[in-house]
Amino acid sequence: MSYPYQIKSLEEYQNAHQKSVDHPEEFWAGIADNFKWHKKWDSVLDWNFNEPKVEWFKGGKLNITENCLDRWVETQPDTPAIIWEANDPTEKDKTLTYKELHFKVCQFANVLKNNGAKKGDRICIYMSMVPELAIAVLACARIGAIHSVVFGGFSAQSISDRIQDAQCNIVITADGAYRGNKDIPLKSIIDEALVTCPSIQKVIVLTRTGIPVSMIEGRDCWWEEEIKKVEEQGNAFCAAEIMDAEDMLFILYTSGSTGKPKGVVHTCGGYMVWTNYTFINVFQYQKGQVHFCTADIGWITGHSYIIYGPLSAGATTLMFEGIPTWPDAGRFWDIVNKYKVDILYTAPTAIRSLMAFGNDHIEGKNLSSLKVLGTVGEPINEEAWHWYDEHIGKKNSPIVDTWWQTETGGVLISNLAGVTKAKPSFATLPMPGVQPLLVDENGKEIVGNNVSGNLCIKFPWPGMLRTTYGDHERCRATYFSTYNNLYFTGDGCLRDGDGDYRITGRVDDVLNVSGHRIGTAEVENAINMHTGVVESAIVGYPHDIKGQGIYAFVILNGIHTDENHTKKDICQTVAKIIGAIAKPDKIQFVSGLPKTRSGKIMRRILRKIAEGEIHNLGDTSTLLDPSVVDEIKMNRL
Ligand code: WT7
Repeated sequence: MSYPYQIKSLEEYQNAHQKSVDHPEEFWAGIADNFKWHKKWDSVLDWNFNEPKVEWFKGGKLNITENCLDRWVETQPDTPAIIWEANDPTEKDKTLTYKELHFKVCQFANVLKNNGAKKGDRICIYMSMVPELAIAVLACARIGAIHSVVFGGFSAQSISDRIQDAQCNIVITADGAYRGNKDIPLKSIIDEALVTCPSIQKVIVLTRTGIPVSMIEGRDCWWEEEIKKVEEQGNAFCAAEIMDAEDMLFILYTSGSTGKPKGVVHTCGGYMVWTNYTFINVFQYQKGQVHFCTADIGWITGHSYIIYGPLSAGATTLMFEGIPTWPDAGRFWDIVNKYKVDILYTAPTAIRSLMAFGNDHIEGKNLSSLKVLGTVGEPINEEAWHWYDEHIGKKNSPIVDTWWQTETGGVLISNLAGVTKAKPSFATLPMPGVQPLLVDENGKEIVGNNVSGNLCIKFPWPGMLRTTYGDHERCRATYFSTYNNLYFTGDGCLRDGDGDYRITGRVDDVLNVSGHRIGTAEVENAINMHTGVVESAIVGYPHDIKGQGIYAFVILNGIHTDENHTKKDICQTVAKIIGAIAKPDKIQFVSGLPKTRSGKIMRRILRKIAEGEIHNLGDTSTLLDPSVVDEIKMNRL
């Protein structure tokens, strides 16, 4: 089977893009016709960016799981839907065909119902990369409950914040998780989080590692026992809840430049169309191929390109529980070899780290099944791009550099594999439906080529966020108020002489560390929780593997004799409040921070010092006390 809307040439791409601009409603109605709807929409698009209001396919009735499961059970029941590779390479892998996955999703949907879940409930999922994570996500979607997946590396405090914000009533977790040579006690982290979460009524716990856990009578139950109950009830099938296209599908929390993370909301219809359309076109997916996206389902990349995009296309999606460097740095290549992976989608940070381990780990691994390579999450440097191209793709697999965000639902700017040209370190061209533009600080459009500016999008696309959960004003203020009538991405961008786009990185106070988005204010707040800290300022600096590292300037109260001990303690505090991913790489103790007379920290100066550009700090005359800069420069790490 081929996909009617798969773009096959540069000319077809240009025509599709042009049509999506000239006649967006007609264009997207045509794409949306390829899905299973219980009722077609009343209107294709209704929008204004000032509120903001964005509605796609409103009045259309569907369930995304019928598009990801039921329709493939009819036509290809025995095609593998999920292939799962365990953390430990000696543990047996698992395959779930479409028929089997459908059965398990229905079964677990009934478990949720037995535990009181209903349409519109928010359900928090805190698990590692086991097949049951995908089953849990799809089971929520099946019954119309809104899933909020929290990445397994987040701390109890972070989980608690997210559960409280969304007022979840159920948590789905596991006793523990395997990650490389570590065992993570998921359930005990959940127990700690739930002390401050009165909205939670049920906790469903999968057995994975077998470590002892405490179960609270009446609140906690075992996944396996609940499945048995459903088996005894004999009602394994679960009819899909009929959803409006604009009903919420999920919430996913992401960091911004201020305060606590926001719950980005995606809805059923537009998100389904967008993830499917971009999956099929960007990766040029062909029936029967194995797609290996190495992200965790705790991030948007996993939602869109492990679960919803591939499954809605009837593809085989590979889930990997472990990490790229365990038991050794050849693990990805073993997996590609073992399952004859066709499409590999990973992050620049993983590529750089594996590159640093040397090419011995590739030798003897058959990578000839690979047809398309992808990258996502941060700008890819040319060296890493070429290494990926030569040593993994053997100069025979197009690389797609896919730029997008949690808020965009799926890829917005990317070349199409083998169809439009690739250019190292450039995401290149917008997907059909995407109208990017560059603006200067005053919001004036920068026209022409060979220009740089702030990247905005001027027209809605089906996969965009609709709101931030529980706080629509925050959504407006964050994305739609910087520039009139535009969605602002927070990224800086260059458009070269060919009109190709290159994303240069965030222009706000957001860091991108190993492809993870980290807000500087969030890390500062966490550091300031340490009793010995008076004040702190966080900036990013270039890091060979992580892309950006976290540099912390910290003012301590009193005298700390053992500075290294205090540094460790501060890192512990950050790990406790946010999670290990936000630990600073460098901590410099300072006696003051460069501030303006109005008390604003001049991060520009700190950024330059962290980057090592100490001779060209620009204008420091507006500083309250310019002498602190000399001290900071002198003691730079
Ligand atoms: C930010 C979004 C998209 C899923 C993973 C991250 C950066 C993402 C690229 C790319 C340069 C990229 C941007 C963006 N980013 N992809 N191909 N080239 N930068 O999702 O956590 O929402 O982060 O990641 O800065 O704004 P996220």
